[in-house]
Amino acid sequence: MPARPIIIDCDPGQDDAVALFLAMSSPDELEVLGITAVAGNVPLRLTERNARVMCDVAGRRDIQVFAGAEKPLIREAISAEYIHGETGIDGMDVFDPVTPLQSQHAVDFLLETVGNAAPASITLVPTGPLTNIAAAIIADPQIIENINEIVLMGGAMREGGNRTPSAEFNILADPHATDIVFSCGRPLTVMGLDVTHKVLSTPERVERIANIDNAVAAATAGMLSFFHRYDTEKYESPGPPLHDPCTVAYLLRPDLFCTKRCNIEIETESELTMGHTAVDFWHVTDRPRNANWVFDVDANGFYELLTERLARF
Ligand code: RIB
Ligand code: CA
Repeated sequence: MPARPIIIDCDPGQDDAVALFLAMSSPDELEVLGITAVAGNVPLRLTERNARVMCDVAGRRDIQVFAGAEKPLIREAISAEYIHGETGIDGMDVFDPVTPLQSQHAVDFLLETVGNAAPASITLVPTGPLTNIAAAIIADPQIIENINEIVLMGGAMREGGNRTPSAEFNILADPHATDIVFSCGRPLTVMGLDVTHKVLSTPERVERIANIDNAVAAATAGMLSFFHRYDTEKYESPGPPLHDPCTVAYLLRPDLFCTKRCNIEIETESELTMGHTAVDFWHVTDRPRNANWVFDVDANGFYELLTERLARF
């Protein structure tokens, strides 16, 4: 079976970095057509640099990396250095990467690659604010038909928000872009905090990764250890949630996850609830069921997959 062609749109961020490693560990199953960076956890100049660092560490300098939006479609940019550190990937030794930054803008890469693809052939894997994806859809809505599926990290239902009481960071960072993506009509699988808060990087799980003798595992263990300090205090949990790799793990092993088809609408008006994902889990409305909401996961199975794949480098 040919490898599934994907484009990862991200804002590294330690968890985005692990998602990149997981994707790059599985070339027989996933063909990474390109990595597009967006401003999010840290500014764009760092997210694009960090994506290229991960390509170097993974020995995949062949993968093309593109810089995209520096700010959301309408709102002012927000960031999360207080979680991810000033580099965005604190916890590993950061360096100037050899992997080059492509001169083409990320949105133009998306327009060209998805626009020239066969119908329903390209899977998009956004793990940060959805600005690049929405900008491409606005520029040329015809690319929508060539999208096979969008598997994204964002949103929250029972878990509540992690940046405001109502909103998860990726959605809040660009709610207008999110609304465009959630209205595009293509298959949408949404990994919100309800599932990502179930995959916790406990010391035992990080230790197993740290015991793998390669540079990717060392970088991962270092980043997860740094990532640990904030979330465990905030949630009083045994480890930080590993949000973004859930998207790639779903592509590799969908059987690890439980999903339910639901309507999901995005708050783009109220400042109080801006960026809220209204998940109609119990189908109390007749609004179109536009998304697969992911609500449960086999966390041990997730970490077994991640650990096995990181050992492949
Ligand atoms: O709320 C978690 C999400 O926000 C993750 O994608 C993390 O990397 C940050 O972008
Ligand atoms: Ca992210």
